[in-house]
Amino acid sequence: MGSRIVATGRALPRTAVSNQDLERFMNTSDEWIKSRTGIGLRYTLRSGESLADIAGEASRQALDRAGMKPSELDAIIVGTVSSEYAFPSFGCQIQTRLGIDSIPAFDLAAACSGFVYALSVADSHLRAGDFRRVLVVGADALSTFVDWTDRRTAVLFGDGAGAAVLVSEPGPRGILASLLRSSGKHWELLVCPATGVRGTLDSEARRDAADAIKMKGPELFKIAVKSMEEVSRQVVERAGVRLEDVNLVVGHQANSRIINAVAERLGVPLEKVFINIDRYGNTSAASVPIALDEAIEQGRVHDGDLVMLNACGGGLTWGANLLRW
Ligand code: ACO
Repeated sequence: MGSRIVATGRALPRTAVSNQDLERFMNTSDEWIKSRTGIGLRYTLRSGESLADIAGEASRQALDRAGMKPSELDAIIVGTVSSEYAFPSFGCQIQTRLGIDSIPAFDLAAACSGFVYALSVADSHLRAGDFRRVLVVGADALSTFVDWTDRRTAVLFGDGAGAAVLVSEPGPRGILASLLRSSGKHWELLVCPATGVRGTLDSEARRDAADAIKMKGPELFKIAVKSMEEVSRQVVERAGVRLEDVNLVVGHQANSRIINAVAERLGVPLEKVFINIDRYGNTSAASVPIALDEAIEQGRVHDGDLVMLNACGGGLTWGANLLRW
């Protein structure tokens, strides 16, 4: 028994914030942001808007496309570090928005690797026969975790949610292999001391520097490239396929220079790499499922294709999934 993604969905906050918008109140430039990160636009939560509502919308879209009712789900697993509360979990909040009850719903905190981690955990449960249909969500709102006076971090992040419906299925299609890694010794490279969504860009009460994301960008950059290269090679080996046979890489959208460097080190041509960071920024755990949903929508994923998902984020955490579509 294996597991296969049968449908995906995505949803974003209503407000798009361009680099030019940021130029108005921050000492930055469209030219710097685009050339150093590839980002042109990101979506940010407004006060009163709820990330759980947005994640619920992405989940409903995935379920509709799967032709499945929420009541048919056996579990909800959410990769997130942006739950509105310390508890209840984000999983429970999505569950109630879907109007269902009693099935297990829980969160997995692996920062930007959250979806890759959650997919692997869901796959293991499906293989073990614990569940037959699992909703896997990646949702984050790191725009509410930044100090908007710190140009080194504030320009990077956007908010959103992506969802996938995973079902148990025999046969050659589905998740062939996953690999998860972490390195707590590098925790200080990317830290946010306080939990919970708070202080949207449009609100008066924003996070102060002590509460906000602190990042050692250049160090993180090097480790992200090296770790994603390594785990991508290892997941391909574990799946028993060849790197050159991978049809599409859908990686975490942290920085287009990171994505390009990983592709170059792997020897994967850029035509086989999906990039949408220009329109979303780094949406943390939401970035892989949003990118996957867009890649499917754009006809970049075909039946039988080998699709690789990979990510790296705070923790540090990193990982990859190799799928036969
Ligand atoms: N606008 C204008 N100038 C800026 C900005 C900005 N928004 N941010 C930094 N600068 C300036 C700096 O002040 C510095 O100026 P100085 O030399 O006068 O001091 C200069 O640009 C270079 O700064 P660096 O930090 O060295 O810039 P770098 O080229 O490393 O790019 C970046 C920074 C984009 C953060 C890069 O290091 C990066 O992407 N790192 C990976 C971090 C990441 O993606 N984190 C997200 C989560 S983890 C993950 O997903 C992998």
